[in-house]
Amino acid sequence: MSTSNKPENDLLIRALLRQPVERTPVWIMRQAGRYLPEYRELRASAGSFMNLCQNPELACEITLQPLRRFSLDAAIIFSDILTIPDAMGLGLYFVENEGPKFERPISSLADIKQLPVPDVGSSLRYVMDALTLTRKELNGTVPLIGFSGSPWTLATYMLEGGSSKNFSKAKRLLYEQPQAAHLLLTKLSDTIVEYLNAQIASGAQAVQIFDTWGGALSADCFRRFSLPYLESIVARLHRQHDGQRVPVILFCKGCNTQLEALADTGCDALGADWTITLEEARARVGDRVALQGNMDPTILLAGPATVRREAEACLASFGHGDGHVFNLGHGITPEVDPENLAVLLDAVRTASPQYHSATS
Ligand code: CP3
Repeated sequence: MSTSNKPENDLLIRALLRQPVERTPVWIMRQAGRYLPEYRELRASAGSFMNLCQNPELACEITLQPLRRFSLDAAIIFSDILTIPDAMGLGLYFVENEGPKFERPISSLADIKQLPVPDVGSSLRYVMDALTLTRKELNGTVPLIGFSGSPWTLATYMLEGGSSKNFSKAKRLLYEQPQAAHLLLTKLSDTIVEYLNAQIASGAQAVQIFDTWGGALSADCFRRFSLPYLESIVARLHRQHDGQRVPVILFCKGCNTQLEALADTGCDALGADWTITLEEARARVGDRVALQGNMDPTILLAGPATVRREAEACLASFGHGDGHVFNLGHGITPEVDPENLAVLLDAVRTASPQYHSATS
C-alpha cells in the first residue's frame, strides 16, 4: 500500500479542484463495460449483471479491466445507479436488450409513504466492500470515483418500472401530485447522502451524481424537482476524508440551459454533454466550477484520424488554463472498437500539455 492517501497520479483531483495540472486528466463514463471483450466474458460467466455488481471481487476486477488496457487517470467503481431503488425493495432485474426493470414499481402516494429509507451500510454493503477492495488493488496509483443517480433520475426508473421514452408516469406525478413527488425525492435524497458518504468512508476519492434525465424536465420543473435536491445533497456530503478533499461532480444531461444554477449548487465540477461547446460552458460558469466532458460518444465510431481531430478540438474549445477533465458527453457505447479509445487517450495526453502552464 502507498503510505500517503494522495494518489500518485492525482491529476483528476487537482483538475476538479481547479488546481494547476501538467496535462488534462481523462476518464470515460462507462469505461468498464460491454465494448470490452474481457467484460463480456466475465458478464457471461457471472450469469447476470447484478451478480457482477453484488460480488465485490468481480466488481473490483471489472473496475480494473479498462485500467489494464489504457492509461486512464481515474477508476470508477463498477456498479449501477439502480442499486438504491433495489435496496428500497423494488426488485431490480435486467432483461437482455431491454435494460433495467423493477418487479415492484411504485405509483401512488401510499407506495411512496411505505418506501423505506434503507440502511445503506447493510443493504448496500456490497458496494462499500467493492470500493474498499478496489482501493487496495489500485494501491494508490489513480483516484477511485464513487457515484449515485440523482433523486429525479432514480425516481423516473422507480415510477416507470424501467427505462422510458417520454417519462409520462414520472412527469404526471410531478404535475398532479407534487407533494407525493417531493416526498419521494426527499426519501431518495436522504438515501443518496448516506450512500455517497458511506462510499467516501469506504474509499471513494471523488463522487459523481448522474442526473441523466434532468433534460426531460421543463426549466420550471427542473428548478422545483431536481435542482433543490441536488443542492441539498451536495451540502450534506463529506468533502474531506483522510486529510484529502473529496470533489463532487454533477453530470446533468440535457441541462445546459441550467449551467449557471448548477454551478451555484456548491459542487466542484459540472459534467457537460456534447450539445454545448466547452468554450461557451466555461464562459458561463466562469471560475466557479471545473468542467468535465464533452466529446460526442458517437465520434468513437469514426476512424482514428477523426477521433484524434475531435479530441484535439474539444481540448482547444476549453482552451488555456486549468479546471478541465476530459471525458465523453455521455457513456461509451458497446459498439466502440477499444483501439479507438486508445487513440483518444493518446490524443489527450499528447495535445493537452500546451494548454497548461504547470510542468511535471
Ligand atoms: O462508468 C462506469 O464504468 C461505471 C459503471 C456504471 C454502470 N452504470 C454500469 C452498467 C455506471 C456509472 C452506470 C450508471 C447508470 N446506470 C446510469 C447513469 C449514467 C448514464 O449512462 O446515463 C443509468 C441511467 C443507469 C441505468 C442502467 N443500467 C441502464 C439504463 C442500463 C442498461 C442500458 C444498457 O446500456 O444496456 C444499465 C445496465 C448497465 N450498467 C450496464 C453496465 C456496464 C450494461 C449491463 C450489461 O452488461 O448488460
